[in-house]
Amino acid sequence: MNSKSTTVRVPGKINLQLSVGPLNKTGYHDVATVFQAVSLYDDITVRATEPGSGITVSVVGEHTETVPLDNKNLAFKAAELMCKDYGITPDLSIAIKKSIPVAGGMAGGSANAGGVIVGIDSLFNLGISRNEMEKVGSALGSDIPFTISGGTAIGTGRGEQITPALSRGTYYWVLALSSSGLSTPAVYQECDRLRDGLSVAAPIVNGALMQALMSGDSFALGKALSNDLQAAACSLKPALRLILDVGMDYGALGGIVSGSGPTVAFLAENEEHSLDLVVALTSSGVVGTIVQATGPVAGARVIEHH
Ligand code: C5P
Repeated sequence: MNSKSTTVRVPGKINLQLSVGPLNKTGYHDVATVFQAVSLYDDITVRATEPGSGITVSVVGEHTETVPLDNKNLAFKAAELMCKDYGITPDLSIAIKKSIPVAGGMAGGSANAGGVIVGIDSLFNLGISRNEMEKVGSALGSDIPFTISGGTAIGTGRGEQITPALSRGTYYWVLALSSSGLSTPAVYQECDRLRDGLSVAAPIVNGALMQALMSGDSFALGKALSNDLQAAACSLKPALRLILDVGMDYGALGGIVSGSGPTVAFLAENEEHSLDLVVALTSSGVVGTIVQATGPVAGARVIEHH
């Protein structure tokens, strides 16, 4: 069947800062986070299929064996919700081409849901505002609104309330990927365990980091990177500490576990420095896969429409 289709390209993200407050009554933690969208993308093709065929999901890319294809997949859930909210018959195929690491702390699953929301809007000419799309996404996952908006933004609440932030220039990242992922709830739980008995302050955005972004100062940004989930991610995956140490020894301007991990992001001064870091990290033998990315980049956007 030669039906109409839309392909949406959606970026992954790094949390330049992730300040985590105490666990609240909703089972979530209030956070103050600074997101940057980076140039690792998933392409999501949404196609209208024959009546009665239902929603199907397929995924290609590295380490995608563990990605569920049923209603546990965020992209599937996003399709169901969009169909329900906008009166669309749920006969759709969703094909995902992944470059964002699976369970890597870079919002890969969220990006797929974001892509489905933007894709369905385009496929059926719904004319939904970006704000409304982000609202639909926020019902399904804390990181989904940012994958739609992209750029650089502050996230508050559970991370789903997005405010665009000023950022000058381009930042060069070297990403150390792990072959096995970390579960976000498990990392938050470990964070609570490590903080047990301590008083935890309300989350707050770091002024020095925002200043560094505004002036395009990658040296200052490198120093200001911080992640309250880093200790928990390292506790569950101790190899991450070694990777962080090696990257910093080799001259990264800063190094951080991205979100709930296990991807480790190192900031380089420029493209040449980022290549030097790749070579050094590769020869160290402590990292499996290393990729380069730049940020900030745009959020979810339609790249093909048939
Ligand atoms: O919103 P999302 O589906 O990404 O969250 C996955 C899990 O991560 C939540 O069920 C919760 O356990 C944890 N989480 C949290 N506080 C946040 C975001 C996520 O505790 N702000």
